[in-house]
Amino acid sequence: MFHKQKTFDLNKETKTCVITNNTENSLVKEVFKQLDIQSEDLEKGTNVIYTLGKLPMKKVVIVDEDKLIENTNGMDKIFKLKEDLLILVDTFKENIIFNLFETLTTASYRFIKFKSKDDEAIENVYYTTERQLDDTIHEGIVYGEAVNHTKQLVNTPYNYLNAFKLADYAQTLGDLEHVDVKVYGKAECEAMNMGAFLGVNKGSKDEPQLIHIQYRGNSHNQDITALIGKGVMYDTGGYSLKTTTGMPSMKCDMAGAATVLGAIEVIARLKYPHNVDVVIAATDNRIGDDAIVPDDILTAANGTTIEIISTDAEGRLTLADALWFAQKEGATKMIDVATLTGAVVGALGKEYTGAFTNNQAFLDTLKQTSEQAKEKIWQLPITQGYHDELKSFSADIKNSGGSRLAGASVAAAFLEKFVENDVPWIHLDIAGTAFESKTGGSGVMVKTLAQFFKA
Ligand code: BES
Ligand code: ZN
Ligand code: ZN
Repeated sequence: MFHKQKTFDLNKETKTCVITNNTENSLVKEVFKQLDIQSEDLEKGTNVIYTLGKLPMKKVVIVDEDKLIENTNGMDKIFKLKEDLLILVDTFKENIIFNLFETLTTASYRFIKFKSKDDEAIENVYYTTERQLDDTIHEGIVYGEAVNHTKQLVNTPYNYLNAFKLADYAQTLGDLEHVDVKVYGKAECEAMNMGAFLGVNKGSKDEPQLIHIQYRGNSHNQDITALIGKGVMYDTGGYSLKTTTGMPSMKCDMAGAATVLGAIEVIARLKYPHNVDVVIAATDNRIGDDAIVPDDILTAANGTTIEIISTDAEGRLTLADALWFAQKEGATKMIDVATLTGAVVGALGKEYTGAFTNNQAFLDTLKQTSEQAKEKIWQLPITQGYHDELKSFSADIKNSGGSRLAGASVAAAFLEKFVENDVPWIHLDIAGTAFESKTGGSGVMVKTLAQFFKA
């Protein structure tokens, strides 16, 4: 989609031309002069100006730089044009070039795979720059592409994306340098005694897939941060069946997996100097002859027995064994990302991702990164009281609390039980932020998680 052009001549180009409103730039000044316009004439946001013969190109699009800094959709109007663009990169301030290219890339994403009539999008973006910005431009495009891949995975429905297909996709990342991908099937998960993960899979016609990606960007130390994504390919709720209105959109229940796959794609493509693992326990959750029922007791890989209260609290069961696996493989820090609870949507809505931790300093650094990435997270508590909710009469613990209160914190407390020896751990509940039925997957947290490993 992107094509670099060496030079720009105001009198030769005929494509729609994109510049900023930064009138300190001589090129912008010149265009404003030719078009006979002043900054004051412009509306707030993006302006599309017809040149009416004053310049060789038909239109000039003037982008409000402040809008791009805020990372709002300042580019929307441009993409509605659906035609080839020429971006004059050198009119943009250097600190927003990354944003510009990331936004150009993500704004061009459309979920058109299943549309028989193609909704046209921009095909070609030409750009000129005489400055040394190739790395920054490349970075922006890499982030944008990874976010688009995450969105595409989230948007793809179960009948086109089951656990096998997700594993196939993960395998493709093995082409990147320093990346190794292993996928374990049902028999191997059985051999590892992953009774919690396997329990969720019991109603499915598709075998579970445990996906393990290792990226080794730093040979000087042994630190490994594991990114663990909830990979419930579809969540019917199981025998604690969801309702007619509660079930639709549950194809998004693998958004955590899609997010960590997007993050590792960026980390590996940009060769960030860290060791990062991705772990995804992928399965769908549905009813079937063999499916688990409430009252069943499962034994997780670490030996913990779990009484099932609700088969719809399945994400934590898959994550319990994924956390165990990550630690067995040497993780020294862990971040899990999951569409885990409806309760977090009640608490924070679509604005904030819920964050939980056993290590405040660890979360504080991630929070800083999330602010730079303009992805909002809000910390919620885990205390002994929430752990106590999970006490079981029949087993070591139960998979859901007795009351409906503070469901997001109780779910986080459940996960914390599978974190060993105070390994620094963060849990991100993206149930409210990852997906909206009108706009599809958001790709939220890909940027934050990737940027976290930048230096
Ligand atoms: N996948 C859901 C959570 C969810 C809700 C994701 C809304 C995205 C949007 C999860 O598996 C679930 O069903 N959680 C239950 C837990 C309860 C049974 C303890 C919930 O939140 O109701
Ligand atoms: Zn569920
Ligand atoms: Zn779920």
